[in-house]
Amino acid sequence: MFNRYRDYVPLWTHDTPAKRPRNLWYWAIVISSVALNTVLLCNLFRASGQQVCPQTEPCRDQSCPEPVSDTPLDNYQRLDVQPLVDGDSVNHLLTSENAVVTTLYTDAYALAVVTLGHSLNQVNSTARRIVLYLPEQVSPRALCIATSSGFDALPVARIDPPEGVNERFLDQYTKLRLWTLDQHGIKSVVYLDADTLVLGNFDELFSLPYTFAAVPDIFLDHRGFILSFNAGVLFLRPSTSVFEDMLTKVGTAEYPRHMAEQAFLNLYYAANAVRLPYVYNANLAIKSKKVIVWEDIWTQTRIVHYTLVKPFLDDADWSLAVEIERMDDVVNSKIGNQWGGLFDPELEAWARAWRDTRRTYEDAWATCKGLAHSNSTYVIGPI
Ligand SMILES: *[C@@H]1O[C@H](CO)[C@@H](O)[C@H](O)[C@H]1NC(C)=O
Ligand SMILES: *[C@@H]1O[C@H](CO)[C@@H](O)[C@H](O)[C@H]1NC(C)=O
Repeated sequence: MFNRYRDYVPLWTHDTPAKRPRNLWYWAIVISSVALNTVLLCNLFRASGQQVCPQTEPCRDQSCPEPVSDTPLDNYQRLDVQPLVDGDSVNHLLTSENAVVTTLYTDAYALAVVTLGHSLNQVNSTARRIVLYLPEQVSPRALCIATSSGFDALPVARIDPPEGVNERFLDQYTKLRLWTLDQHGIKSVVYLDADTLVLGNFDELFSLPYTFAAVPDIFLDHRGFILSFNAGVLFLRPSTSVFEDMLTKVGTAEYPRHMAEQAFLNLYYAANAVRLPYVYNANLAIKSKKVIVWEDIWTQTRIVHYTLVKPFLDDADWSLAVEIERMDDVVNSKIGNQWGGLFDPELEAWARAWRDTRRTYEDAWATCKGLAHSNSTYVIGPI
């Protein structure tokens, strides 16, 4: 009886079917068939403009166009009409076990952190707030201001980076200390880089059943919308044993060191990272790459991430902490002046949040002003 699986041999088997001797004709036919098919396929792809075959000559300017990324985001067409979150499914957890956490590695980010805290208050975020800070790099005055809108300060020891890290990211491995927050009774963390601003409540993230989630990153070049995530916003379940495991692997795993902890976390969680919608890390790079995507996510954005412009840093020297009195000038000087005005609405959103923060906490800052402050010697901020 005919059986189409008769000669089927699973790839992993060690038993091979009895071998029949093969003659010269057999191999001549196989080789010429492979060669002919390669030529035909190459011609077919060349005709459709794709570069899949090795070039026989070096590329000249026009002959090798950059590959163009073609994801559903590059190809965005406004189709989905469902609400982003099914409110009935949100499971409210014990709020004392949830924390929104940020980091303060230098004084230069103190006013960003206090503004971030105020933006969390504005959306009635229910979770605890914690700022991990480096006591040897952050002055008492900066910490006093940064925590005035509701973050609890938690000093942490810096984690030395492995060799080869870009100097902008030298402090960033300290972010791995997020995983030790189980020691403070926390079960779910939403981590926010200090260069983010909250526009909407994201409590639903705390009921994710997964251990790790983040938002995919965006490149401005031909790579466009990519699979790797941006580490500026993370959902994670703290676990000191996971932290210890990470430390044993951070120096030996193979990843581009200059991309620091973001590259390591992408490698660590690899196939297990849940990809969150862009509204949880509305990275300005999206707007630069595809304005229509930005327009559609902006109205639902929970967290905006100031990657390509930093409203609160003095462009003359990012390492210096901007004085409270100068902040209006610093942010206003960027509006209309950077990226051809592309990010003016987002800069204005930060400027409004800052003015509101200042109005709300200015009196409380009077007590901070008497405390010691230092110039940060270098800024290693999140991007
Ligand atoms: C936050 O809570 C206050 C007081 O209950 C309420 O007035 C306000 O509308 C809430 N804000 C948001 C964004 O839900
Ligand atoms: C702090 O900054 C001021 C102004 O830039 C500079 O003159 C001073 O030397 C700095 N101090 C330290 C300790 O770096």
